[in-house]
Amino acid sequence: MCGIVGYIGSRNASDVLIDGLRRLEYRGYDSSGLAVLHDGRIELRRTVGKLSKLINNVSKRPVAGTIGIGHTRWATHGRPSEENAHPHMEGGVAVVHNGIIENYLALREELKKEGARFKSETDTEILAHLISREVRQGRSLEDSVMRALHHVKGTYAIAVISRHEPNKIVGARKECPLIVGLGQKEVVLSSDIPAILDITRKALFLEDGDVAVITRNRVAIKTLNGQDVERAPVVVDWTPVMAEKGGYRHFMLKEIFEQPRAITDTFRGNLMEESGDIFFSDLSLSPGDIDRIYIIACGTSWHAGLVGKFLMEGFSAIPTEVDLASEFRYRNPLVGRKTLVIAISQSGETADTLAAVREAKRKGAYIIAICNVMESSITRDAHWNLMTRAGPEIGVASTKAFTTQLVSLYMLSLYFARKLKRIDEKKGRELVQELVRLPMKLERVLNESGVVEDLARRYFHYSDFLYLGRGINYPIALEGALKLKEISYIHAEGYPAGEMKHGPIALIDENMPVVVLAPNDSSYPKIIGNVEEVRARGGRIIAIVNDGDREVKERSDDFITVPSAPYYLMPVILTLPLQLLAYYIAVFKGTDVDQPRNLAKSVTVE
Ligand code: AGP
Repeated sequence: MCGIVGYIGSRNASDVLIDGLRRLEYRGYDSSGLAVLHDGRIELRRTVGKLSKLINNVSKRPVAGTIGIGHTRWATHGRPSEENAHPHMEGGVAVVHNGIIENYLALREELKKEGARFKSETDTEILAHLISREVRQGRSLEDSVMRALHHVKGTYAIAVISRHEPNKIVGARKECPLIVGLGQKEVVLSSDIPAILDITRKALFLEDGDVAVITRNRVAIKTLNGQDVERAPVVVDWTPVMAEKGGYRHFMLKEIFEQPRAITDTFRGNLMEESGDIFFSDLSLSPGDIDRIYIIACGTSWHAGLVGKFLMEGFSAIPTEVDLASEFRYRNPLVGRKTLVIAISQSGETADTLAAVREAKRKGAYIIAICNVMESSITRDAHWNLMTRAGPEIGVASTKAFTTQLVSLYMLSLYFARKLKRIDEKKGRELVQELVRLPMKLERVLNESGVVEDLARRYFHYSDFLYLGRGINYPIALEGALKLKEISYIHAEGYPAGEMKHGPIALIDENMPVVVLAPNDSSYPKIIGNVEEVRARGGRIIAIVNDGDREVKERSDDFITVPSAPYYLMPVILTLPLQLLAYYIAVFKGTDVDQPRNLAKSVTVE
């Protein structure tokens, strides 16, 4: 996920672009850059790493000019480097791009045959060449962009400027957001609302296939075939501060609702739907080189690891153990040269996980990190990184990072299974397509969040909760309990449902609500028995069930219905109502949802 901005008006373009990029930095910060038109030339500034590097660069070498484009990058194709940083230029045309051009290799070969020379490893540079090729034939910038995009397969939000038409910006989008902010004789283009608010709150939200032709006094919207299109402007009723939270009351709620997009962004760069293939561009490890896997993590990330065991053993049949990092590092683990350690960490800075990784590495293990923060310590220690593209997670309670970790584990397990030929192409395609369908199912769960809010209103005064799950969903019971306790300060325990009669059932009475995960899988009949056991002792049941459920619903005091999904993806769906339940209970209790007491977003001490 990247962030793009564009500006044309009377202000200093580089100032406006940098302010805009600051508001988009959560979208990625591997590198950033800007291109500004001045006196018939394009000045380019690009730096690797955080936006602060670019700000430093521009303050030392200011850039004049009142029209320009900018970009903050989350690397998909090509490692974070200055030559891979956007904007990309060719023949006096500069381009910034968010998205993925799936056929860029073929296009690059075609352009190379025409003599094109490439300076980067990115897919985006292709666009600069394709557009420049059209401009050289005397076409307008917008016609050149339209013709170029007809060659492109994939997704994009782009902004383009050219020294040949120094008073124009052209924008276009397909499956990636692009907004046109309409000021007074100035226009700002952006991937997201926050970046336009310092200029205007009047915006056009481009649709897929739209091309925006922007000058200081006019914005014309066309289709890719050049037909005029009407887009009604919308007045955004956000303040810049609110926009940091995307209009949500808390970062945690925003991040819960961002999960469909976060999951899409996480898998989009790594799968080919047609072939059912998963690919990780820089993972050179062959599963044949390993004979055992340890998954190590802390807290919510450890819960993801517990689900990962089911995925890894279920898909690739590689023996997999899951360990709390704080335990792993002190128990002299059996680690050898054929051991793979998968370290899961949202922050990439958790001290116990970092120490466990270093211990495993010292013992000769391969290290893969599943992490959400580029350039974090764990990503620097790992041999390979699978980045969850969830964007910055500000709320201390981890939500979108967790579900994107589950998706990353699903993809990695499938990747190994395909390499080991344990899953054929047909099955691989089915499993990939189920993943592609997942975000839509999550949207449905989120659309029904009002049901969970009503439930929370009836339960927030209880002081103890029990969460029960079986099989791959037992870790989700643990996660639901952790979410509740860490933001509402209510005592909650997650338990394997089959363990109830070995002790916890002594706790059950009318003061102990029991949240039961009851998807329609092979353990469903056993879950019914557990529900009966709780009811027989006066416990209150809150059941999470699939569409069409009857038997658990008729035995429950309350229930939340969620869409069905294959066994290995059900944990992602079941997580969302538990996140929402914890969130709304905490809101009703009046605790500090985003910064709960005693907690920190990243536990960098042991
Ligand atoms: C989860 O909601 C908590 N914030 C906490 O358990 C967290 O998952 C744990 O500290 C691990 O953090 P990491 O993923 O950044 O390593």
